[in-house]
Order: sequence, then C-alpha cells, then structure tokens
Amino acid sequence: MTNINKQLYNKKTSSKKVWFMRQAGRYLPEFRKIRLDNPDFIKLCLNSELSAEITLQPLKRFDLDAAIIFSDILIVPYALGQSVNFKKENGPVLSSFKIDIFKKNELDLFLNKLNPVYKAVSLSRNKLEKEKSLIGFVGSPWTLLVYMLGLKEGKDKINLIKLKEINNDLDFIIINLIKFLCVHIENQVKAGADVIQLFDSWAGLIPEKMLDNFCYKPNQALVDFCKSKNIPVICFPRGLKKNYKTFNEIVKPDGLNIDSDIDPTWAKENLINVTIQGGMNPSYLKEDDDKLLIEAKKYLDIFKNVSYIFNLGHGLRPETNPEKLTKLIEFIRKYK
Ligand code: CP3
Repeated sequence: MTNINKQLYNKKTSSKKVWFMRQAGRYLPEFRKIRLDNPDFIKLCLNSELSAEITLQPLKRFDLDAAIIFSDILIVPYALGQSVNFKKENGPVLSSFKIDIFKKNELDLFLNKLNPVYKAVSLSRNKLEKEKSLIGFVGSPWTLLVYMLGLKEGKDKINLIKLKEINNDLDFIIINLIKFLCVHIENQVKAGADVIQLFDSWAGLIPEKMLDNFCYKPNQALVDFCKSKNIPVICFPRGLKKNYKTFNEIVKPDGLNIDSDIDPTWAKENLINVTIQGGMNPSYLKEDDDKLLIEAKKYLDIFKNVSYIFNLGHGLRPETNPEKLTKLIEFIRKYK
C-alpha cells in the first residue's frame, strides 16, 4: 500500500502525510519552461512523456507522499467532443454544449482520446518510488457542468436562468457524465493510479435545495463506484460550509478535503469516520515564515490525534515561491 492510501484506510491516527493540490504547475520554473514551448494546454496534457515529466517535477524538488497526474478536469468534456480553450483572463472557455455527445457508441472514441492520459499515468507510476501514491482525478458532474454549459456569471455566481432552460435534460446529462467519469476513473486506476480525488470546486455555488441532486447524489455515485472497485477516494466539495457535515454523512468518502473557510476545530468535531485532508489557506505561503508555520502548526495541532493528510484549502497559486514550500514540508516532517 502507498503512503496516502494507508492514511485513507487508517481512520484513527495520523502519520503526517503531505501533498499539495496544483503541486505540478506554474509556480515551478521547470514547469514554466516546458509550458513556454507548449502553448496549447490540452495538447500538453495529452503529451504522455511531458505529462509524466511534469507529474514527477514536484517530487524531485520536495519530500512529498504523492504525485498527482498532470492533466485537467476539463479533459473529460474535451474527450466527449467539446473543444476547450484556456483564455488568460476569463478562465477556460468551451464550445457550445450539444446533448448528442452522449451517444452509446462513443465510448471507444472517448477512450481513444484519453489513451495518452493513461499512458502518462503508467509512465509516472513506473518512475515513482513504490511507497509514494499516484493520485488520479476527475471533476464532479456539477463542476464539469458549470464549464460545459457555461453556467458561471462573474467570479462566484451561477446563471440560474440558463440552468432552468436545460432543466428537463439535466438528469440525463448527469447520469451520462457519471458513466463516462467512472470509465475515466477505472482506466486511470488500471494504468497505475492508486487514489482518486473528486474535485467539486463549485459545489458552494449550488442553491441549497438543489444540493441533493447536483452535489450529494452525483458524488455518492462516483464514491460508490470507487468503493465497489476498492479504490480509495477523496472528495473536495469546495465551498459547502456547514453542509460539509451532510456531505460526509451521505457520500461517505475515504478522505475529505476541507477548504479554507472551514474551521478546523469544527471539522474535527463534525466530520467523523473520514480522513480529513487540507484546509490551510494557500495565501499563507505569501507570508513570512513565522506566520506561515504558525498557521501550519494550527492544523497539525488540531488534527494531531485524528487521521489527517496535510494539504491546502485550494490549489497552490502561480505566484507561490517554491522555497516556501520546502520550508513548510520540512516543518511538517519535523512536527511531533
Ligand atoms: O498539480 C495538479 O494539481 C494536477 C493537475 C491539475 C490541473 N488542474 C492542471 C492545470 C488538476 C488536478 C486540475 C484540476 C482542475 N482544473 C480544477 C479543480 C481544482 C480547482 O482548482 O478548483 C478545475 C476547476 C480545473 C479547470 C481549470 N484548469 C481552470 C479553471 C484553469 C485556468 C485557471 C487556473 O487555475 O490556472 C485550468 C488550467 C490549469 N490546469 C493549469 C494547470 C497547471 C494552468 C495552465 C497554464 O499553465 O496556464
């Protein structure tokens, strides 16, 4: 069993495991160097050799317990036939959604398009030390829908009118997305991933009365699938606030990544029978060492006697200084 895997099964004690969301990315000069020659982001994700190299970059620099495969949640809409463009200011933009992308006979085509990802997973696994985990991932249906249907208005609002317009088709779309996501999960695992993380980054934008249909049920379906295949699974329903507790009770993942709005003491008391991951605000990596390490210690102290994996409340930011991360990891390793 690999390091993160062990911690996910051990619900009682903590052995201070650590990895970071977006640990492979723009804050690393060695990533920026590759990125400069590869302006098409999706193409870069589908270059198996480069994807594996980027996946392993943070592990060459830092003492981490896991690698996360270099890909993107939007690789699934891409493989379903929507074009994906990353525009600097507006974030990702997808071509207009057509419901006929979910035809039965398209499974082969879907897998063909994603084959380079599975090759990158297996290349990474082969080069990764045995005890280190390799994390595969997918976006949860709601978060994918936000991009696939272009539902976001501004920074943190959902266009409910657009959502209503497609209301009659939503169940069909979600059921089909789940089907394809399970296929993508299973193939990442077959290629060598040994933990899966589900990113529901926009769960916090779902109106309360729609949480059941758009958040709890779809995540539960994916978690149940993982459990049926003995794949340990971590959920990240970002922005759910107190509903993290309901989410945990209904979905029952092996691991639950908390965001920075969640009070860690509240989490310790209310999120039970689960390995808690993350929480610290990534903005602390911009602060002086003293301030950063005091904040890290807060999380380590609170979760000292429960199952915990150190990570953040959201991904590492592009402006992060890698040396800060080295200091933070050293601190976590020395913590008793
Ligand atoms: O290191 C890792 O975490 C593994 C790779 C990874 C990426 N994206 C690479 C990436 C993972 C796990 C993701 C997940 C992802 N992608 C999420 C869920 C987590 C979250 O951040 O909320 C979401 C919502 C996306 C969609 C996405 N991809 C956006 C909104 C953007 C543009 C804005 C941004 O944050 O950069 C991306 C691009 C992206 N995905 C980059 C990387 C390294 C930056 C690409 C670049 O070099 O310009």
